[in-house]
Amino acid sequence: MTAPSPRRSGTLALGSLLAAFVGSPVMAGGIEDRRVRGWTIATQLCSQCHVIGRGSQAGEFSGPAFLRVANMPSTTGPALAVFLQSHHERMPSLRPDRDEMDAVIDYILSLKGP
Ligand code: HEC
Repeated sequence: MTAPSPRRSGTLALGSLLAAFVGSPVMAGGIEDRRVRGWTIATQLCSQCHVIGRGSQAGEFSGPAFLRVANMPSTTGPALAVFLQSHHERMPSLRPDRDEMDAVIDYILSLKGP
């Protein structure tokens, strides 16, 4: 790997962290960047109630682990988008903006097994 420029190094460090989580190679740009962003948003908005990665996470969680969500047959991009934009009884309506939501959805879908 070539030495990252100072401006990119933050993202790259985060990328390596994500790679450790999802076990996939992280390429700069495009979908991988979006997943890294989605993961970052998930750590901020979702991780208090959901296990968001493949590893274990400390705490108590009221919602299902994202890994489990990702592997449910009913989980698709559009289904997640509808879920996140609608009102729920037990999960707060977070109403992330469109861009954040797409990033989080990409991240969740990236956990799907083969
Ligand atoms: C305050 C706690 C809380 C937070 C924060 C939270 N959730 Fe949830 N979430 C829940 C609970 C509880 C459920 C189960 C509720 C249900 O099935 O009605 C749930 C269910 C879900 C499901 C549905 C799984 C299924 O059965 O279809 C998805 C997807 C989901 N959450 C995504 C997210 C995302 C993405 C975020 C962050 C942007 C987030 N959640 C933040 C508590 C939370």
